[in-house]
Amino acid sequence: MWSSRTLFILAAVGSAVGLGNIWRFPYITGENGGGAFVVVYLLCIAAVGIPVMMAEVLLGRQGRQSPINTMRSLAQQSEAWRGWSLIGWMGALGGFLILSYYSVVAGWALYYIYLLASGTFVGTEAAAAGAAFDAFLANPGLLVGFHTLFMVITVFIVGAGVVAGLERAIRWFMPLLFVLLGVLLVYGATSGGFAAGFNFMFSWNWEKLTADGVLEALGHAFFTLSVGMGAIMAYGSYMPNKASIPSAVVMIGVLDTLVAIAAGLAIFAIVFANGLEPGQGPGLLFVTVPIAFGNMGLGVLFGTLFFILVTFAAITSAISIIEPAMAFAVEEFKARRWHVALVLGLVCWILGLGTVFSFNAWADVHVVGEMTFFDFFDFVTQKVMLPLGGLLIAVFAAWVLPKAVVKAQLRLPGGRPVEVLWEVLIKVAAPVGVLAVFVYTLYHFFFQ
Ligand code: PFF
Repeated sequence: MWSSRTLFILAAVGSAVGLGNIWRFPYITGENGGGAFVVVYLLCIAAVGIPVMMAEVLLGRQGRQSPINTMRSLAQQSEAWRGWSLIGWMGALGGFLILSYYSVVAGWALYYIYLLASGTFVGTEAAAAGAAFDAFLANPGLLVGFHTLFMVITVFIVGAGVVAGLERAIRWFMPLLFVLLGVLLVYGATSGGFAAGFNFMFSWNWEKLTADGVLEALGHAFFTLSVGMGAIMAYGSYMPNKASIPSAVVMIGVLDTLVAIAAGLAIFAIVFANGLEPGQGPGLLFVTVPIAFGNMGLGVLFGTLFFILVTFAAITSAISIIEPAMAFAVEEFKARRWHVALVLGLVCWILGLGTVFSFNAWADVHVVGEMTFFDFFDFVTQKVMLPLGGLLIAVFAAWVLPKAVVKAQLRLPGGRPVEVLWEVLIKVAAPVGVLAVFVYTLYHFFFQ
């Protein structure tokens, strides 16, 4: 069990803050035209993500086992269908798929530590930074190498069980990350892109928002909070009973959102200061940030540190992504952590090759429709599994688990009004919201 409430928060922040905030949020915001997309995303965090996260933590703490067995035993205790353990199975499977591409992108960050440290980008022009990234993506050998390195680091940390020490390091990491995002923001502001970036993120251009964009915002809200696949449930199972779930979850949600917004503002300031394309896709972080650090004093130092921080953020998230499968294997087969970590790592590594080749050799291989392996893994996890998992978790906590259990776990502060708000969010807003977005997207897919 976590030794204290603080350690739970640190671990959960470590899980939540990751590539989702720094890499994914800015690039999907760019692809979806900014403004309205950000508003929908914030709404999804507040009305769906945070309540479902509370539900997930409370289920975990009530069940105190791996997500699969937690769901099974809670369903039994509630005299409900045992098939609710499917939430746990889907989460464990989702973890494999997510980690497979997460590791590839984390490998990009690892490589960029080297590029920045070696001064590659000193005085760089926008075009050269873009060309460097394209050349990197076109080199499957390098991509595989850094994907492998990241996976080895993750397997080592998970296998050796040195996770708690890492969690404590989050104390240092968060302020440092904000400082470096601040440095980027100052650069963006002095080179004249801040206002344009700010407008891009916060002006309400509804006409740019598509049905797919709404689903993207919802799926990303789950992804960035690590909710919908049992990761936070697994962490909740280690949380001490006396710690307050609502205050911890709100804090995690706010911190996670602040990091994403800060990263977005910094990156779009650079985008507009240099006349770059906001919707250029997954390379956005790796093209903009080197331009900024390449053209400021102490840029080599700051830039190297920045990508070290991104990698660290990715590691603390990666650990939580395989925790549901890890916890289940250790509990069910009494297997050793080392063995499980190696097997899980190997499976994710192999799956990750699909993502590696999506950017070069297999760029024209389409799994479904127009989707490459990377697109497909991304689609199935963010847009299907996480929202579906979140929906089922909300329904289970709201309608299946005895009310007294929920009440005793949550101990909501603020009396009746807060209780009503919780009920409305978890019983109606979260499930109906997810369902509505699913139906709306399917309708557009088939009829428009
Ligand atoms: N929340 C992490 C991020 O934003 O990078 C990613 C993640 C972690 C997703 C854990 C899912 C998960 F279970």
